[in-house]
Amino acid sequence: MNDPLQTAVEMALSSGRIQKDSLKEGFAIHHKGETNLVTDVDIACQEMIISVIKERFPEDDIIAEEKPNLFEGDGNRWIVDPIDGTTNYAHGYPFFCTSIAYEVKGAVALGVVYSPIMDELFVAVRGMGAYLNGNRIRVSSVPGLKASLLSTGFPYDITTNSDNNINHFVDFLYEAQAVRRDGSAALNLSYVACGRFDGFWEIHLNPWDLAAGALIVEEAGGSLSSISGGTFSIYGGGVIASNGHIHEAMTGVIRRSLSSGRNEKEL
Ligand code: IPD
Ligand code: CA
Ligand code: CA
Repeated sequence: MNDPLQTAVEMALSSGRIQKDSLKEGFAIHHKGETNLVTDVDIACQEMIISVIKERFPEDDIIAEEKPNLFEGDGNRWIVDPIDGTTNYAHGYPFFCTSIAYEVKGAVALGVVYSPIMDELFVAVRGMGAYLNGNRIRVSSVPGLKASLLSTGFPYDITTNSDNNINHFVDFLYEAQAVRRDGSAALNLSYVACGRFDGFWEIHLNPWDLAAGALIVEEAGGSLSSISGGTFSIYGGGVIASNGHIHEAMTGVIRRSLSSGRNEKEL
């Protein structure tokens, strides 16, 4: 009997090996948009992951970033980002990962995020806690925004869509201790889970950016909401993830600019 957790871990570790080897050997870079890249390594990792899933779980659906996806059906579903942080990867900046989640009856049941350069494996199983390299992790206990290190990211259409997170970024620069933008939403979420970041927010994300990392935050005792403070969904685009203590304050900062009319589309 194949075990989804063991399979997810095996695939994430193999994907990390491909990524590390290819950094040494070289790889081709292609453009999906002016600043939106895909490398041969994204494709190679995704093909490996899909072939393992098809062999071991032939009935399951698969959503993966570098292929066409149908968001329908109520079967078990794998949600895969072969490289989260492709821009970093293409530049040899060592902040990237593979993100794999397994959804059962509409709820994410397990999530795995592997950062090969740091050799850090984040794992969560619903109801069983979150782990980094086998050790239980918890969100931070930082009580307020002024003492918080936050992270965020920006959509690829930042220059053509004014609904682009720059307003929130500026607002948080004034409110937090510091804000980082380091190019991998799945790792940002995992870093909230282990207490390195106290909060993370982003808009216009995809389920493959969010699914594994969000469960890892939840199982580490953190809080998740939509960008306006409503119920979180991996299919909803936006997220606020935090240690819980600063969640209301983060929501407040975002609501202020939403209600000032600068981001009416998000309300
Ligand atoms: C991107 C990263 C980045 C975030 C972008 C994502 P990709 O994913 O997670 O941090 O800001 O919104 O699209 O393209 O590297 O898989
Ligand atoms: Ca991604
Ligand atoms: Ca990706």
